Amino acid sequence: MEGKNQAGAGQECRAIVLVGAQWGDEGKGKVIDILAEKMDYVVRYQGGNNAGHTVVIGDRKYVLHLIPSGILHDGKICVIGHGVVIDPKALIDEIELLRSQGIDCSERLKISDKAHVIFPYHKRIDELRESRRVKGRIGTTKKGIGPCYADKVARVGIRIGDLYDKEYFSARLEDNVEEKNSMVKNFERSEGFCSSEILEEYLNYAEYLKGFVTDTTLLLNDALKNGKAVLFEGAQGTFLDVDYGTYPYVTSSSSTAGGACTGAGVGPSRIDRVIGVVKAYTTRVGEGPFPTEFDPGLMEIIRKKGGEFGATTGRARRCGWFDSVLVKNSVDINGIDQVVVTKIDVLDELEKIKICVAYRYNGKTYTSIPGDPRFLDNCVPVYEEYPGWMRDTSGITSHEDLPAEAVRYLNRIRELIGTEIMLVSVGKSRKQTLIYK
Ligand code: IMP
Repeated sequence: MEGKNQAGAGQECRAIVLVGAQWGDEGKGKVIDILAEKMDYVVRYQGGNNAGHTVVIGDRKYVLHLIPSGILHDGKICVIGHGVVIDPKALIDEIELLRSQGIDCSERLKISDKAHVIFPYHKRIDELRESRRVKGRIGTTKKGIGPCYADKVARVGIRIGDLYDKEYFSARLEDNVEEKNSMVKNFERSEGFCSSEILEEYLNYAEYLKGFVTDTTLLLNDALKNGKAVLFEGAQGTFLDVDYGTYPYVTSSSSTAGGACTGAGVGPSRIDRVIGVVKAYTTRVGEGPFPTEFDPGLMEIIRKKGGEFGATTGRARRCGWFDSVLVKNSVDINGIDQVVVTKIDVLDELEKIKICVAYRYNGKTYTSIPGDPRFLDNCVPVYEEYPGWMRDTSGITSHEDLPAEAVRYLNRIRELIGTEIMLVSVGKSRKQTLIYK
């Protein structure tokens, strides 16, 4: 059976989906960078430049927002699928920044002609919604992500391919600007947007991007048929997924593994393996429930040690204990086969480490998350406490050298989430990674 990539027959996996199993920022950038070495294609399938993947190679640090991190490896084809929303200015800036660092995207970056485009009015509406809301503010990145996806679903969006038909593009843009201006003018009494200015600006972007735009669905399906290895890199994390996340405190795309199929145009039967990335503790950015959040003292220590500041907005991340209930849920939702545990070294100095193993709510104990919208806000985590290892793990390169307490902690996580641990990361660089047995 050639189609189903023969992973079960002991061969290398050809189609891998990698997802964040918490609220994003799990350290996916580094894991993608390691896996990319064996892949031919690396694909982004959802989100936009709200994401930020940090990769450290030698003494160089790269922060990528839209372009898959595979671009840092010679010869890899990088694809931005149609499930992604593209701010063309941000994308061009990223291409140019990479060029200035000696990385040429021209032959290796492919952009779907069906990806939706972010316009200035999307960003303005994103900002307006956030500033008008006193209660219920989401804490978005203000990159226009939500309003762009809203237009896509409302069937008024403009896609990359539309930019190359000036008449069609101009007519749709005019309609959209008229509609958005009525909102913008009403709420902030401003002049609103001028469609001819946007048209001119975006036609220039379209010209720049022309050579990158193609039918990426065809490209990827052909690649898989020809035995190429494809890595689908998720952005954000499971609990930011618009369907499964902690709604409404979520992003607007499908950041779970299923999103790879809809956002890249590849059927579920083609996927061989799903890898989840989890941080050894938990973080989230922006508003929303967070049952295991640290008290301010510990928050400060872990935030500083873990460098927990957003790669996109610079905002301080909220930090908390590892929540096995959430991650177990994530394993089910994504069909995760193996996990990579990152940033174990950040916990090196703690005397005691806790793992959330259940929640208490209204007198009952839960090991899954019910649909009650108030549940996560009001539940009380049930913790197990483990002794810390109180040793520097950042130089450890093999499982055997990990402190016994760290192994005990990781084994307990493995048991609670019911999934094999594939790799453990003890620092930012590629070599600070060890195979876990
Ligand atoms: P939006 O995606 O800008 O609409 O933001 C919605 C929510 O998702 C906010 O809480 C953001 O902080 C969060 N978010 C969006 N992108 C990321 C990411 O890459 N990492 C972590 N949180 C994110």
